[in-house]
Amino acid sequence: MIRAHALTKRFPDKDGDRVAVDGIDFVVEPGRVTGFLGPNGAGKSTTMRMILGLDAPTSGTVSVNGHRYAAARAPLREIGALLDAHAIHPGRSARDHLRWMAASNGIPTTRVGEVLELVGLESVAGQRAGKFSLGMGQRLGIAAAMLGDPPVVVLDEPVNGLDPEGIRWVRTFARQLADEGRTVFISSHLMSEMSLMADHLVVIGRGRILADCSMAEFMSDHAASYVRVKAPALTEVGRLLQARDAEVEMVASGTGRGSELRVTGLDAPAIGEAVAAQGLVLHELTLVRSSLEDAFMALTADSVEFHASTAALEGAGR
Ligand SMILES: Nc1ncnc2c1ncn2[C@@H]1O[C@H](COP(=O)(O)OP(=O)(O)O)[C@@H](O)[C@H]1O
Ligand SMILES: [Mg+2]
Repeated sequence: MIRAHALTKRFPDKDGDRVAVDGIDFVVEPGRVTGFLGPNGAGKSTTMRMILGLDAPTSGTVSVNGHRYAAARAPLREIGALLDAHAIHPGRSARDHLRWMAASNGIPTTRVGEVLELVGLESVAGQRAGKFSLGMGQRLGIAAAMLGDPPVVVLDEPVNGLDPEGIRWVRTFARQLADEGRTVFISSHLMSEMSLMADHLVVIGRGRILADCSMAEFMSDHAASYVRVKAPALTEVGRLLQARDAEVEMVASGTGRGSELRVTGLDAPAIGEAVAAQGLVLHELTLVRSSLEDAFMALTADSVEFHASTAALEGAGR
């Protein structure tokens, strides 16, 4: 379990201090995959570095299985981490890289073969890591994280730049670790990835927690939905539904032909029955759900450091 309390990190800045992590509280429970989601610059990596004792909090605390990680005697047995997959000596083979790491933590060398097999790198274990593709480097980083068979695993943007095969592999692997009862904490700036991988979400923006809930809860709270209604007598249908306390908005149809109603507060079956009871005709009755990506964008819209549309302008002004 990972537990953060009032965790804060400030970096000195030319005009005072920049708050990267702003007094956050969260708990990462074992036995499930917790997604740490937020736009670039939200504070995910800084939080992860504090969990691992690589950055000292300005204030607040974070503990791994009840104690500060930096105090651990054999850190790789407590927590496995992938923070920067490129932090590997390019001239060293995958096997030698893992041997060196194992030795530094008093882990028997037999474990090296096991983790190479675990991530599917046995056949290239003798090759220089510098020649590895991004996906192979990522697997090697995960192999290193698993050397000490740790109960807690922290992966920072593990699928960044991976091909679909690699993404699927990371997803399956994370699921397996959680099913084994481990604590799994994985960051990403992409909702689409997280929606397939995480059971629980901690969403962060500008160093603050924006949501801490199950994936299912996030969906029902943030992914808006409405029922699209098309009918020849649209105005009449709209009035009828309003009389049943539905919220009705008439908009130009997406197909460019005519208009449609967007109805909330009344589900599709109820709409169909109400309309039929008046002897009116429907041409379409569809439940439309906004995607999780949309929900995430809406939630973090105010917390993105530079929006795509303005970033270029700000860059030009400097
Ligand atoms: N070593 C550092 N010195 C100064 N500012 C930093 C440093 N590391 C991160 N930051 C700033 O802290 C904020 C959070 O960064 P980071 O934790 O890397 O975000 P994320 O991983 O969510 O993209 C950003 O504004 C970033 O510029
Ligand atoms: Mg990061």
